Amino acid sequence: MIIPEKINLNLGENSYPIIIGQDNLAALGNLIQELNLGRDIFLITNTVVAKLYGDTVIKHLRQAGIKHLQMSVIPDGEQAKTIENWHKVLGEIADFDNGLNKRLVVVNLGGGVVGDLGGFVAAVYRRGINFVQVPTTLLANVDSGVGGKVAVNFKQGKNLVGAFYQPRLVFVDLSLLKSLPQAEMRAGLAEVVKYGVIADSELFAFLEQNYHAILQYDLEALHHIVRRSYQIKAQMVEQDERDTKGIRALLNFGHTFGHAIETATNYARYRHGEAVAIGMICAAQLAEELGMFSQGETQRLEALMAKIGLPAKIQGADLAQIMQAMTHDKKFVNKKNRFILPVKIGEAAVKEGIDETLIKKIVARRLE
Ligand SMILES: NC(=O)c1ccc[n+]([C@@H]2O[C@H](COP(=O)([O-])OP(=O)(O)OC[C@H]3O[C@@H](n4cnc5c(N)ncnc54)[C@H](O)[C@@H]3O)[C@@H](O)[C@H]2O)c1
Repeated sequence: MIIPEKINLNLGENSYPIIIGQDNLAALGNLIQELNLGRDIFLITNTVVAKLYGDTVIKHLRQAGIKHLQMSVIPDGEQAKTIENWHKVLGEIADFDNGLNKRLVVVNLGGGVVGDLGGFVAAVYRRGINFVQVPTTLLANVDSGVGGKVAVNFKQGKNLVGAFYQPRLVFVDLSLLKSLPQAEMRAGLAEVVKYGVIADSELFAFLEQNYHAILQYDLEALHHIVRRSYQIKAQMVEQDERDTKGIRALLNFGHTFGHAIETATNYARYRHGEAVAIGMICAAQLAEELGMFSQGETQRLEALMAKIGLPAKIQGADLAQIMQAMTHDKKFVNKKNRFILPVKIGEAAVKEGIDETLIKKIVARRLE
């Protein structure tokens, strides 16, 4: 049994705790009240998670004495991360609020899609109200739950419209992962591989040893990777909350290629983590071509991703579509491309202005 632990994300007055536990959902309502986050809860989730955990969460919150409570349910999947759904949820929250000046707190129960969209609802409603992340996917438990990047997608680019807006609490119940399909576990692991490459060679080695146990929902192993991932992310966000100093940018390793793959395939073919996995191979090969990263380490990375069962090839988009999507990426500054490239396993660097012919060569190699 995992004893609940707390990691603090220190951002001055925007600091917040990240609670990691197991079977601890019953404690959520009391904690929200202890931290004085609000009295009335607007719960945002999606159709899949509502069915699995909606009733349980509502029961626990009522038992904790929350009287005004409403659940808003968005459709499932990345394609639901739209301005239309954001607008619809805002309408529902305004109806719930009803001018009564309730002390509202938004609770996002779900994966990265619910967390990003719900966070963006909280960021703008009444110019910003408190919100809590209750991540239910591995990806959200190691990455999107923390850090305050909230957004929705546009056809021109992923996460194109959004804000920096920090949650007041991140509440992890690892037991919720037991219902997560294998493919989603693999996609979440891609982001953990990312932390290993950019910041922690021991975490990378842990994944090489324990990927199988993790995919079997071993709670001790899951606890280790969730704790370590959030520690690394918290450190980077603390030093560079608004992503302007090139520190937080390291978290985008694999994402310039990955986002372009997602956009070019209309957010329909790959899970975010799967696209990032292909993107990490592209970035490693690019670094190798530039003489920054050894062939042996690229092979080690590719081997780990293959063992986890992540894709390595791009299907459903051609070179022109991917290059077009890449030029819309927010990470392109003054039209100059910008990539996070590995130096060795455990360390990465920001590189700008890379020759486009080389990028095309790397992408072309990945096309099926
Ligand atoms: N804000 C950030 O810093 C940040 C970081 C990384 C990724 N992201 C975003 O996160 C999103 C991807 O998140 P994701 O991978 O969690 O996708 P997701 O939210 O679509 O969840 C994946 C699938 O798992 C289902 N699901 C969720 N919890 C479940 C559970 N406990 N049991 C069974 N099924 C469950 C969902 O319904 C969905 O079908 C992308 O939009 C990406 O841009 C944001």
